[in-house]
Amino acid sequence: MTLTDGTELMDPHAYARGGYPHELWRRLRRESPVHWCEGPELVPFWAVTKHAHICEVSKQPDKFLSRPGIVPATKQVAERIARGEKGPFDAMQTIITMDPPKHRSVRRVASPWFTPQALGRLDEVVQASARRLVDGLYEAQRGGEGRCDFVTEVAVQHPLRILSSILGVSPADEPRVLRLTQELFAADDPEFKRPEADREEAFRNLGIEFLQFFGKIIADRRANPSDDLASVFANARIDGAPMGDLETLGYYLITFTAGHDTTRNAIAGGMLALVEHPEELAKLKRDPAGRVADAVEEVVRWTTPVNFMMRTAACDYELGASKLRKGDRLVLYYASANRDEDVFEDPYAFRIDRHPNPHLGFGIGEHFCLGANLARKSQRALFAELARRLEHVELAAPPERLAASFVAGVKHLPLRYRLAPAA
Ligand code: HEM
Repeated sequence: MTLTDGTELMDPHAYARGGYPHELWRRLRRESPVHWCEGPELVPFWAVTKHAHICEVSKQPDKFLSRPGIVPATKQVAERIARGEKGPFDAMQTIITMDPPKHRSVRRVASPWFTPQALGRLDEVVQASARRLVDGLYEAQRGGEGRCDFVTEVAVQHPLRILSSILGVSPADEPRVLRLTQELFAADDPEFKRPEADREEAFRNLGIEFLQFFGKIIADRRANPSDDLASVFANARIDGAPMGDLETLGYYLITFTAGHDTTRNAIAGGMLALVEHPEELAKLKRDPAGRVADAVEEVVRWTTPVNFMMRTAACDYELGASKLRKGDRLVLYYASANRDEDVFEDPYAFRIDRHPNPHLGFGIGEHFCLGANLARKSQRALFAELARRLEHVELAAPPERLAASFVAGVKHLPLRYRLAPAA
């Protein structure tokens, strides 16, 4: 009897019901760390659950490819691809599905913009967003107490404001771009699902809407360049030649989508962890400026908003005791690696001062998260502002989880709180 055929590792509704399958991952790490999963719906894959194996795979991008896809396909989609039919996003290549050497030259377009020094130019936008959102919670208090859905009122809004400002999305268009990213990542959640009955058609229409939306911004930044990231993409050159239109669009799309829901889920799950571990919140409150950087690393380890990434073996390979064949798919479960007993002391404890913290929440190797410094900066500003001003916080109702297994987390977090005014 096999430990799993992979269904509960991928089924979005299982994640909505029970959160991350930590108990199953614990058994897999111990009993079958590179585990063959052959279920009814998905193309079979190896579930890779140990930290060391994920590092080994991720650091060899020539042997383990991203180009064939970063999430497991259903058998139905795989058959469509085998027939040579194109899906809505197939023509639009993004860095996350490129392999070296192309990946490196395309990544170089944006990487200088994301260094900690260069991101200094966003200090004001990031601080202002954190301050404005916490002020909003403060002002909503009645009789010295407030209630909110922390996800929709804070966790969604903070990355949305920051990404919109760097990508040239006007405040008026923020709700529209938010809806599009939610439809992309939470396509199975009843709250965010598109109206189209057919999943393929829904994705096709979503692709068209994205193209139209970012297409206008690109045209504008070509005519009127500034120092924002939107202008970097719009006017990029690869090896001396202008970047193609689809690649430019893909860069917008990947930055917005990879940057938004991930940061939102880290903030939401981090807040939940602080509410559930009041002694850790108290520690952070004693020295927000000194402790927030380590606290954010622990939040990313604890929540691991990007649950997994897939790779495809370019050659036969022995990973641990498992013999992989060329063409095999591997799903790298970062969320499992982030509880690996061989790497983390007391991995199921949430400790805001955990150090060192070699988590894989931002991946590792060739595709290490391009926006990691921005994700850190955004979270630090918000958690520091909250820690300075929160006098009391508790759950007002049980949290609800997204029906999503790829970029996964909390979708509603009802809180009751008391906040101090801004200093
Ligand atoms: C807490 C928030 C975030 C988490 C947990 C996260 C996680 C990840 C992970 C695990 C990868 C690796 C993908 C792979 O190995 O194939 C990745 C890649 C990437 N991330 Fe993030 N991310 C976050 C925030 C952001 C932000 C804010 C941005 C941009 C503004 C961003 C942009 C990207 C891009 C462009 C890639 C692809 C890099 C490449 O292929 O070279 N991410 N992210």
